[in-house]
Amino acid sequence: MRLGANLDIDLKLLKSNVQALTVLASNSDILFMVKANGYGHGMVPVTRFTLEECGVRNYGVATLFEGLKLRKAIPEHSFDIYVFSENHLSSQYAEQYSHNALIPVLSSLSELDLFLSEQVFSRVPLVLKFNTGMNRLGLPINEDEFDLIVTKLKNKGRREIFHLMTHFGRSFETLAEPTQITQEQMKSFEEIRQRFLQAGFSIIFTSTSNSGAIERGIGTGLSHVRPGLMLYGPSALSTNSTRPNWKGHCISSLKVQVLRRMSVKKNTPIGYGGTLTPRDGTICVLAIGYGDGFSTKLQNTTLYHLPGQPTFFGRINMDMAQLFYAGSGSSIPNEGDVLEIWGHDASHVLSISQQSGIIPYEIYCALGERIPRKYTL
Ligand SMILES: Cc1ncc(COP(=O)(O)O)c(C=O)c1O
Repeated sequence: MRLGANLDIDLKLLKSNVQALTVLASNSDILFMVKANGYGHGMVPVTRFTLEECGVRNYGVATLFEGLKLRKAIPEHSFDIYVFSENHLSSQYAEQYSHNALIPVLSSLSELDLFLSEQVFSRVPLVLKFNTGMNRLGLPINEDEFDLIVTKLKNKGRREIFHLMTHFGRSFETLAEPTQITQEQMKSFEEIRQRFLQAGFSIIFTSTSNSGAIERGIGTGLSHVRPGLMLYGPSALSTNSTRPNWKGHCISSLKVQVLRRMSVKKNTPIGYGGTLTPRDGTICVLAIGYGDGFSTKLQNTTLYHLPGQPTFFGRINMDMAQLFYAGSGSSIPNEGDVLEIWGHDASHVLSISQQSGIIPYEIYCALGERIPRKYTL
């Protein structure tokens, strides 16, 4: 823990983001992705708040152990938890699913085989995710393997698909070619749905869309959408669209204290590696470093939203980082002052992302445990 840096999370803004999303996908339920500790914002508080205050009932985690943690932390509410990628379906863990009402998302033939072979899974909803072109996880869609899947399911009497899914690889890109690829993925998904219906299966829920797709109205007519990033604030389209439609508020604000302030002359060596100051100015040493997940790639990033528009200067250290201010005017903070590295205006974190080349997902997820999360309602 450290006292010099905080991630302040405003839950009211999370509620307004959920409400804004409800307008974009008015016919779909939300399956909110809270994996990786709620994209760094705290999986449990974010889930509890959206359950109690925003009407969300479905959550997505990446691993079985995230799912177990979430279920145990909030035993008083009933809600669906989908485990997306690291399932552990072998007999050693199979019981955990039925005991804790966790739903594994099956994304390969070997996962399907384990699911169908363990008796305990007969009480667990069947969720199938198909590979329609992202080529990461996903059941195969070629005819032979699809027929094999159908046969395996029928042999076990599993004719009800609780949730049929796919995932887009390029929905955050707005250029013509990736857009066409996303549309082709959507078309393949619809074909799979039809093939199951023709084979006599019933399908309760369907979903395809992450933030980028939702923002662009792709797949928003299905029973569910699966947003992550956009509910934490930033538009997923930001890397290639300067004026995204999504106007979410960044629910977090990173506040960091100034530990030291010193006036410097041009060519003063600063920190590890002794980077030379380009002109006279002021250096403020901040209470954050890569030990907190604040990457060395943030060197040379300018905080345009702050008075004096300082730049991270020299190498970012494990526990500290230097900001350089040209000049020495009244816009320069004093020792003990707190600076907002990013605020609730999503353009701040997006500007940091664009300058450093670190995607907003990574900026958020990297923030370590040493930074306390503070929640306001
Ligand atoms: C299967 C799946 N669906 C939805 C999402 C949410 O994506 P985003 O945060 O871009 O909305 C993710 C995130 O990685 C995912 O893996």
